[in-house]
Amino acid sequence: MDNDSSVKSEISLFEAMYSARAMRWLKRDPVPPQLIHQILEAAIQAPNAGNRQNWLFMVVRDAEQRRRIGAIYQRVSHWVLQRYQHQGKPDCQSEAEYDRMMSGGLHLFDHMGDAPVLLIPCLRITPLELPENIPVEVRAAMREAYPWTAGASIYPAVQNIILACRALGLGTVLTTNHTIAENEIKEVLGLPAEVTTFALMPIGYPERSFGPVKRRPLSEVAMIDRYGSPFSVNSF
Ligand SMILES: Cc1cc2nc3c(=O)[nH]c(=O)nc-3n(C[C@H](O)[C@H](O)[C@H](O)COP(=O)(O)O)c2cc1C
Repeated sequence: MDNDSSVKSEISLFEAMYSARAMRWLKRDPVPPQLIHQILEAAIQAPNAGNRQNWLFMVVRDAEQRRRIGAIYQRVSHWVLQRYQHQGKPDCQSEAEYDRMMSGGLHLFDHMGDAPVLLIPCLRITPLELPENIPVEVRAAMREAYPWTAGASIYPAVQNIILACRALGLGTVLTTNHTIAENEIKEVLGLPAEVTTFALMPIGYPERSFGPVKRRPLSEVAMIDRYGSPFSVNSF
């Protein structure tokens, strides 16, 4: 760590992973700038393609800027809500879990701008330039894969942010609804054309308690060697 004043975490990495649930109910109390600095330092330790570090982290604390971004999030989230309502509850969630997620989501619609800090991880995405000596079909495959590889260079940093927040006792949640209104968000932030936002993360002290998170069991989602062969320790 580059700074001796970093706050030491009281919890282990695994405890953070198991309890960093989506925190959508946040207090308006200010967050010390030192903690935001520490979170950003954690973010930039993340892996990224070619170690080019084409990322940019917009920290929004100005009240008027937060209000404008919050208003955009609120407006577009109602469209996303319609999609969620259309899809209905996924089988892996109980009614109570689904209701809790939806009520948290709805709460955040109206309170995104109230969080003391909004963190917006971005990437500078320049057009993919490929040399002529790469076979044409490989170049085509590279272009097709580009959107995935682009996002893959920022979400590891986003997860570091989530875990750093948890370690420091701060709540956050990865949200992406705002991307429907990407151009409006870019205008508010004055972002240049080549910068794309990938997440909008409110950060603040939590009003509700951390985890444990609830997930489908490993036996349903991990396989070994071939599709259809469930992973287990005994299958090694
Ligand atoms: C790609 C992605 C996009 C998400 N977008 C939103 C969002 O726009 N709004 C929101 O409230 N939560 C959003 N979430 C949070 C998820 O709803 C949350 O991670 C999930 O319900 C699990 O919550 P839990 O960790 O509390 O169990 C997003 C999560 C991911 C990974």
